Amino acid sequence: MSAILAALTTVWRVLQVWAEGLWSLVSLLGIGLRALVTGGGAASLAAAFAAPATQRKALSVLRAVWPNLRLGRSFVKAYDNSGTIIVTRHNDCLDVLNRDADFEVVYGPRMQKLTEGRNFFLGMQPGWDYTRDTSAMRLAMRTTDVADLILPRAQALADDIVARSGGRIDLPPQLALQVPWDMTRHYFGTPGPDAATMQDWTTTLFWYLFEDLGADPEFDAKAMHQAAQFRAYLDGVIAERHAAPTDAPDLVNRCLALQAAGTPGMDDTGIRNNILGLQIGAIPTISKAACLALDELLNRPDALRGAMQAARSDDDARLAQYIWEALRFNPHNPVVYRRATRDTVVGRSTLRQQTVRQGDMVFAATLSAMFDPLAIPHPGRFCIDRPWETYIIWGYGMHTCFGAAINRVVIPAILKPLLRQKTLRRAPGAAGQIDTGGTPHPQHFHLEFDT
Ligand code: HEM
Repeated sequence: MSAILAALTTVWRVLQVWAEGLWSLVSLLGIGLRALVTGGGAASLAAAFAAPATQRKALSVLRAVWPNLRLGRSFVKAYDNSGTIIVTRHNDCLDVLNRDADFEVVYGPRMQKLTEGRNFFLGMQPGWDYTRDTSAMRLAMRTTDVADLILPRAQALADDIVARSGGRIDLPPQLALQVPWDMTRHYFGTPGPDAATMQDWTTTLFWYLFEDLGADPEFDAKAMHQAAQFRAYLDGVIAERHAAPTDAPDLVNRCLALQAAGTPGMDDTGIRNNILGLQIGAIPTISKAACLALDELLNRPDALRGAMQAARSDDDARLAQYIWEALRFNPHNPVVYRRATRDTVVGRSTLRQQTVRQGDMVFAATLSAMFDPLAIPHPGRFCIDRPWETYIIWGYGMHTCFGAAINRVVIPAILKPLLRQKTLRRAPGAAGQIDTGGTPHPQHFHLEFDT
């Protein structure tokens, strides 16, 4: 009996996938027609497809019609590859991100350009180098630091910035970049020459590693210049600490203590490269995620009201659920990509089985996975009682974000003092929308509240 019920449920869910896909197709045709009629053409289509709501529609069409779509040509120029596959179903996305032997990380060559030598562990396949560096850095960055050192500072700083804002704030430069930068100042021990320079270096280098898919040569030159400055700065900090030791409980000192204990990989260059990689991952990401989560909440009055109530009643767990759900709809990165190391398949023994050729760039569409009705109940609803595993908002598998525990407290710490303001709203006009200034990262996002 239960087998029949399970079969019927599966049929129902598959029908749901198809109904949703067809509905999205109609809606996408509407968007295309509007672009034609209004004369906006390619620019208006590009703007529509930059919006996560449109991306979700396109992905729902793929989930129904072509769950693992192989395109014969290569779109990514930054990393060698010979074809493109878009993987959209939840099971297949997780499968790709779990199969490190079949699907490798590609970032190594650019990581090595940034360090002018060795790889950083996000660019590494499983093996001794990866184990050595992640093990050492996990000893240096203890989970207990999040509650003891990182959260209290982030909360105090965000509260203070919002209190002094006079009811008008430009979220990225005034708050969302400041808090993670301050974390790197005190907890890493590497603030850079000043906040703006460090925020600029890390944003450029993050963009270079993960988002400059077209391999723009001018941008390459800018990234190389900033990477050289960043390396020289970090080398200087490490040399200074050797010359004049301190007892600050920061990452630089923790790494030097590991060096003194003879820990493999913790020579000065190893320490510098590890901090460089971590710092690039830490600042622009937290800022962007905080902006996107708030943007999504501001688009949803009921959710915004709920998040504000949670913030005002100090219900941090509930507030966090609103933020993660907002990021499900509007995530920092809608895909994670890998390259096939050998000929293989995705969706084995299913109707959607797809051959993958060695060298194919495989886009695991994590945004799509989080909206797959076959895995996520009522994916289109904004719900705050979803289990944490629902959220693939900072990767999956071996390379899951090293800063995950930090993200889980720092993003809510940034947004809470704003959400406590009863009259929080967007600034009027374009200023109240996220302005990326032609970059992949929010540059401005003006908000207001009555003091
Ligand atoms: C909201 C903020 C963040 C987001 C959205 C984010 C996103 C991600 C994603 C998607 C990955 C996996 C990349 C892949 O598999 O190709 C990743 C890995 C990583 N992240 Fe983050 N990240 C964030 C914050 C941070 C912070 C604060 C740090 C450092 C303290 C950090 C350091 C890293 C590192 C080192 C890895 C590589 C882990 C490994 O290879 O094992 N990230 N992150």
